[in-house]
Amino acid sequence: MIELKQVNYQYPHSNTKTKTLNDINLTIKTGEWVTLLGSNGSGKSTLVKTFNGLIQPDSGEIRINDTLLTSEKIHHVRRQIGMVFQNPDNQFVGSTVESDIAFGLENIGMDHTQMHHRVEEVLRFVDLWDLRNNPPESLSGGQKQRTAIASALVSSPQILILDEATSMLDPEGRKHIMSLLQRIRREQNLTIVAITHNIEESLLSDRIILMHQGEIIQSGTPEEIFSQKDLLFELGLDIPVYEKINLQLKQLEINTPDHLITRESLMNWLWTFN
Ligand SMILES: Nc1ncnc2c1ncn2[C@@H]1O[C@H](COP(=O)(O)OP(=O)(O)OP(=O)(O)O)[C@@H](O)[C@H]1O
Ligand SMILES: [Mg+2]
Repeated sequence: MIELKQVNYQYPHSNTKTKTLNDINLTIKTGEWVTLLGSNGSGKSTLVKTFNGLIQPDSGEIRINDTLLTSEKIHHVRRQIGMVFQNPDNQFVGSTVESDIAFGLENIGMDHTQMHHRVEEVLRFVDLWDLRNNPPESLSGGQKQRTAIASALVSSPQILILDEATSMLDPEGRKHIMSLLQRIRREQNLTIVAITHNIEESLLSDRIILMHQGEIIQSGTPEEIFSQKDLLFELGLDIPVYEKINLQLKQLEINTPDHLITRESLMNWLWTFN
């Protein structure tokens, strides 16, 4: 569970009039998959960095699994959160895939046999066991991000945060990561907070939180959020491709449903169309 109450933050020396984070109130339940959506500079990355104390808010309270985040509790809280960032090249510490992943466990003093088991388990989970002896630099972009996810998962966090983790990948690499997230979701009761500009990815989440100029302006299911086309256009955000098809069909005066957000909804409608 992630809880934020009246969180405010402004970067030092920032000369913008609006706060970077302005009175953020937020609850993300255990096991929930939430997407943060918002235009560039709306405060998404800053927000997730407050969850594990990488950024300390100027005011407000942050609770992670009922622990109030204070400087004394920061290490305790950090162990519960795994983070994956946009650029896979900036995240490696080991000379091989295996040693890179073991690093997170060496820090928490796990015994050798147990560590070996855990590393193997995670590497198999992300489908990288065969590449365990390769240097991380030699991997493809998608394999690098799977290594980064394995590193984030190895110490069994309860929360996984992904900040545009797929934005540098090709469609194939992206798909692989998304199916991995769906498996994580099915097999472990992990809370996922993902920042993405990719609409198709956000459709997989339980809830979308819409940010604008440091504020949360809406929160709802993908259907609820993407049915507000005008608001999204106003914020400079895209709409799902199926909804674009829907708009085109309406222009042809074809009587389609009000909203076609997902592929499934488009297919279902096509079956009824004659
Ligand atoms: N280190 C920093 N110092 C000063 N200002 C910063 C810093 N990092 C971000 N900002 C500013 O804070 C605001 C929010 O930035 P943030 O990176 O959180 O946005 P974002 O929603 O993640 O954007 P993007 O989609 O481009 O990643 C922006 O106006 C940005 O310029
Ligand atoms: Mg960002």
